[in-house]
Amino acid sequence: MLDESIQELEAGSLARIARAQSPEELEAVRVEVLGRKGGALAQVSKDMGKLAPEERARIGKLLNGAKQKLEDALAAKKGQFDEADLRARLDGEWIDLTLPAPGPRRGHLHPITRIQRELEDLFVSLGFTVLDGPEVETEYYNFDALNIPADHPARDMQDTFWLDGGNLLRTHTSPVQVRGMERLGPPLRMIAPGRAFRNESVDASHEHTFYQLEGMMIDREVSVAHLLYFMKTLLTAIFHREATVRLRPGYFPFVEPGFELDIQCLICGGAGCPVCKQSGWVELLPCGLVNPQVLRLSGIDPGAWNGFAFGLGLTRLAMMRYAIDDIRHLQGGDLRFLEQF
Ligand code: PHE
Repeated sequence: MLDESIQELEAGSLARIARAQSPEELEAVRVEVLGRKGGALAQVSKDMGKLAPEERARIGKLLNGAKQKLEDALAAKKGQFDEADLRARLDGEWIDLTLPAPGPRRGHLHPITRIQRELEDLFVSLGFTVLDGPEVETEYYNFDALNIPADHPARDMQDTFWLDGGNLLRTHTSPVQVRGMERLGPPLRMIAPGRAFRNESVDASHEHTFYQLEGMMIDREVSVAHLLYFMKTLLTAIFHREATVRLRPGYFPFVEPGFELDIQCLICGGAGCPVCKQSGWVELLPCGLVNPQVLRLSGIDPGAWNGFAFGLGLTRLAMMRYAIDDIRHLQGGDLRFLEQF
């Protein structure tokens, strides 16, 4: 009787071990068959007490043999599961060291910087020198030398950030004209890109800090035709097509005659939007022939020399070229915005 049930138990358990699909299933079989308390083999050995001594020894051997076989089978099967598990992990976690690495996230030039550099290249190719000037200026260079004396109403055209001690944040890049004339003298072809500052309330088309690109050419017989030629060359280079422009008389004390060169708004195509203040046109390029008084103040003889000057709104130009409808985006520092360019 006992012989048979031991053999049956052994054979049945071996089959279940062989069939087990997971370590959990295997463990369940182990507990059920070999468990110290309540395991099937433990159950059988309980009945051994009733047996005669030699019979007990024989059955004991049988039981031990069965137990050993089952333990071996369990261990072997467990080994299989462990190995499969390891192989799956090695497969899943391997790394191809020859794959190109993703690398650090690269930045790129700001859209205004890009346009500034393009224009620098263009003007250098036309024989212009690129000059730099201080952002903190004296009243003389920002105003007086440009024919805007202290009592001149034109001072109110530009809301100025005054600094302690009488200096100011330059309200335009025009003071670099004066520095260029003083240092280099005529004939002169120069541009001066840089920041300018005005004490204005900020909205979609006004910032307290913005970029301009000043330009000046002084030679023997410079005319409005020269001025227009350079302005058109500049706009075509930036927009890669002929932009629609219009010329209006414009007043700036340092040019005479003075003009406002407007460009048809490329954001709305002239229909009207916040950037062009619903007018369809954007003021982009104030310019004119250099006022003789300005030449004289910088020690240049207006009888022998004349010239043109312009003050391109670099920030506005960037907005037109990239169809940016709010000036505040440009210096906002939001990478989600900048990454689009
Ligand atoms: N400096 C002027 C401004 O910012 C622009 C300008 C420059 C006009 C050169 C004429 C000639 O308003």
